[in-house]
Amino acid sequence: ICFKMSHFYIKMAHLKANKQDVNTYSNFDEVTQKFVELDVSIDFDKKELTGTVKTEFEIINPSLQEIILDLHGPEIISVNLVNEELDEIPLKYEIYTKNKDKEALGTPLIIYLESIKEENASEYDKIFEDKLVTIIISFKTTEKCNGIQYLTKEQTYNKKYPFMFTQCEAIQCRTLFPCQDTPSVKAKYKAKTSVDMPLTFLFGGIMKSHYYDSPNKRKIMCFEQNIPIPSYLVAFVAGELEYTKISKRCGVWAEAGLSAKAAWEFVDAEKYIEIAENYLNHPYEWKVYNILVLPFSFPFGGMENPNLTFVTPALLAGDRSMSNVIGHEISHSWTGNLVTNRNWANFWVNEGFTKFMERKLDKNLLGEDMAQLESIVGNNSLISAIKMYGEDSNFTCLSPDFSGVDPDDGFSTIPYEKGYQFLVFLEEKVGEEIFREIMSKYIDTFKYKSVDWTDFKNVYEECVLEKMNRRNARKILNVIDWNKWVTETGFPSYKMEFKSKYTKEVDDLIDQFLKGEENPESALELFKNWHTNVKLAFLDEIKKNIDKFDGSLILKIKEELNLVEAYNDDVKAIWYEITLDKGLSDEIENVKNFLQTHGRLKYLKPLYFGWIQLDLNNAGKFFEENKYLYHPIARRLIQNKFDSQK
Ligand code: BES
Ligand code: ZN
Repeated sequence: ICFKMSHFYIKMAHLKANKQDVNTYSNFDEVTQKFVELDVSIDFDKKELTGTVKTEFEIINPSLQEIILDLHGPEIISVNLVNEELDEIPLKYEIYTKNKDKEALGTPLIIYLESIKEENASEYDKIFEDKLVTIIISFKTTEKCNGIQYLTKEQTYNKKYPFMFTQCEAIQCRTLFPCQDTPSVKAKYKAKTSVDMPLTFLFGGIMKSHYYDSPNKRKIMCFEQNIPIPSYLVAFVAGELEYTKISKRCGVWAEAGLSAKAAWEFVDAEKYIEIAENYLNHPYEWKVYNILVLPFSFPFGGMENPNLTFVTPALLAGDRSMSNVIGHEISHSWTGNLVTNRNWANFWVNEGFTKFMERKLDKNLLGEDMAQLESIVGNNSLISAIKMYGEDSNFTCLSPDFSGVDPDDGFSTIPYEKGYQFLVFLEEKVGEEIFREIMSKYIDTFKYKSVDWTDFKNVYEECVLEKMNRRNARKILNVIDWNKWVTETGFPSYKMEFKSKYTKEVDDLIDQFLKGEENPESALELFKNWHTNVKLAFLDEIKKNIDKFDGSLILKIKEELNLVEAYNDDVKAIWYEITLDKGLSDEIENVKNFLQTHGRLKYLKPLYFGWIQLDLNNAGKFFEENKYLYHPIARRLIQNKFDSQK
């Protein structure tokens, strides 16, 4: 398409990130997307999604001149206005590439509304009268679209068909199609997908219909998401998928041949939903809860895409020992998906609250001592993350500044565990029951909206004043330093005490090994029967006191507890971290094998980091040879680790 240049569409000389969300260029405070309709077709040969995104915008600023959308990778084919008669009128647009942070934030699409005037003046007046404008954009994705990973058939479980999945959180929705890619904005969605038979192409929403386009041998599916969601919750997956039901509202999608195993593993999903509903006194509004098991390159443990939680296949431990991840993702249905962080500086409002819910569910299912043990293990990871970044680092604060950077670069357990500890602190001040009522009120007040932490503070203070006598309430509110908790870097200002009966068992076994007194048979018997969390606490204890263990003792512990073969991937990964810390080069083969079969960043980051400390050269060579096994997001983050060594 060729445009004649005129005065109005070359004036965006200094496009700036939005002040309310520094990770978007969109002018969502002037105009907001309300309804998004996607029509997407996948071509596996070309590794390409092609289609249209039709968006209804509400105009807030009556003198609006342009709509600025985030974009990072896709090619734009056309941009048209859609009027009531469903005619399409071409609009002038520009892709802005002059920004310095385009590597992180992309190259926004600027759509010039005034160009409608040139074509049709009455149409232009009408959109401002109605305060509504519908725009349809035709696009196709490119290899620069980091939110999408294509897998060859060799990289799948059955090795018969290729596979594709998306990961939009935090700012990758803009790598699928142009949009207001900010959690400040929520919209309803419709999606229509098209894929070659016999594959299945899903969208994270409620499936409304599916049919076969037989002349073209394509499977067409239609989905809806009628609860308004932020862009980071948009999700697609295509592959040879099958479905197994778990319960009335829960089920599992997985590669053909895997879904029955997965349904067994995640059988507790329904229970988790019920406990969360009871705790928050708020129903599960999303109706359906399905879990999608991905190939191993999925970079996270789980991702709370609505109606379709994405998970790593590493959760299929065969003993249901990783189902806390499901509890976590289910909890996001309220904290995150109904009530959403307004920007990435408030990420802890998603993750800290969800960690808190996750441990409430575990307390209900496994008891107080187990939930406390999880908090202890969580605190260990908080301490090592803060040490890793340095106590003054911006990324150790609950409200980090992400200007000009991709928020994924600052991702760690800090928003989870520091956020969690702050909420436990707030809970201890008022007691469990009042805090539960506060959480419930918070969800009721802010569902379908996007919030920052001060919105929660207001509900907390209101409820405390309402539910406690005035003097007590004042006393409590006066000692809570919200600003200190949220805006200061480093360790939490108040040290939380977590206590669990399990720590004694852990300490005893550690002591026995250190003194060389253990009876190998009973040690194995004890360890084998421990809950995963106790095993993790034991290994954490070794890691913390690594100097007290010499290499031969570490190898002895490995033999006696059967550490490499027998347990789930969380246990294995921390074991490999220990062997790297200790410089046990005989173990490298096992580590390599693990790194070639896992794509979860929680494992990749510490293992590559440990290996870099031990042997930068070989770690680098191995990564170079294997990096295309990993998701683009993981690949970039691990590459950054190597680059920072230079
Ligand atoms: N929403 C996160 C995953 C995420 C965070 C993706 C930031 C992209 C950017 C998800 O809910 C999560 O926290 N997953 C954890 C689960 C764990 C805390 C139980 C994970 O993947 O390890
Ligand atoms: Zn989460």
